Amino acid sequence: MKLTGNTIVVTGGTSGIGMGLVEKLLGLGDRVITCGRREDRLASLSAKFPSLVVKACDLADEAQRKAFVEWVAARHPAVNVLVNNAGIQLTADLTRAVDVQKVRAELETNVVAPLHLASLFAPLLAGKKGAAIVNISSGLAFCPLAFMPVYCASKAAMHSLTLSMRRQLRDLGIAVYEIAPPSVDTELGRERRPAGQAASHGGMPIGEFVDAVLKALEAGVLETAIGQAEGLRTKRESLFESMNR
Ligand SMILES: NC(=O)c1ccc[n+]([C@@H]2O[C@H](COP(=O)([O-])OP(=O)(O)OC[C@H]3O[C@@H](n4cnc5c(N)ncnc54)[C@H](OP(=O)(O)O)[C@@H]3O)[C@@H](O)[C@H]2O)c1
Repeated sequence: MKLTGNTIVVTGGTSGIGMGLVEKLLGLGDRVITCGRREDRLASLSAKFPSLVVKACDLADEAQRKAFVEWVAARHPAVNVLVNNAGIQLTADLTRAVDVQKVRAELETNVVAPLHLASLFAPLLAGKKGAAIVNISSGLAFCPLAFMPVYCASKAAMHSLTLSMRRQLRDLGIAVYEIAPPSVDTELGRERRPAGQAASHGGMPIGEFVDAVLKALEAGVLETAIGQAEGLRTKRESLFESMNR
């Protein structure tokens, strides 16, 4: 995938991996559009990067997803790349009644939204030079951590959906990539961390991770597991016991 000269939508640019990708892609001269729910973060990003296009949007809401894609299509018809990055990570105790609203919210954000967005963007991307969709899954797609079962299942679903998406969209000239991150030091799962430790949990530094993502995309590798995620992909369920001991 060519990393320059694109008009790229990166979902979830208000923190973590999305923000890291936005910054790097802007530096490469791409036109970058991003979204998120936290409007104060979007305003700070706009102030820091005047060429960045931002739009407040809750991707867990079907109507807002459709409105976001229509907004992009009307203002940035050159769009040729979608990075499905936005996601949330919740825990669930399966020994008691699960909070079904939380389960739905996690699946809506991590599975329904990227799938729906890909299908809405596909006609806009079709036939364009360098057309691509990049799905950010997880090493946990291949071997779950039992205390976050829905999250891991959502990422396993994204892995499977990426395979189907790649097959279905190839005739439209859209390349579909999957990036499976290891633990990266972002705000993911911040709800369960003590205040003040929301953004640091000992994972790979964001800059190092983003560099590895761009290297893999530039090399045209369709499925890349980065860092420890590669071990999870190759060893899969054999690691389940040791991880959940
Ligand atoms: N960090 C890791 O260790 C790790 C490992 C494997 C995979 N991943 C995946 O990497 C992706 C990025 O996560 P991250 O680690 O960078 O976490 P993060 O720092 O929490 O960032 C998540 C981003 O997603 C956005 N988002 C969440 N729900 C949204 C919604 N309903 N509508 C719009 N935007 C929404 C957030 O923006 P707002 O809060 O402003 O809406 C934020 O910009 C996720 O798909 C995650 O599953 C991360």
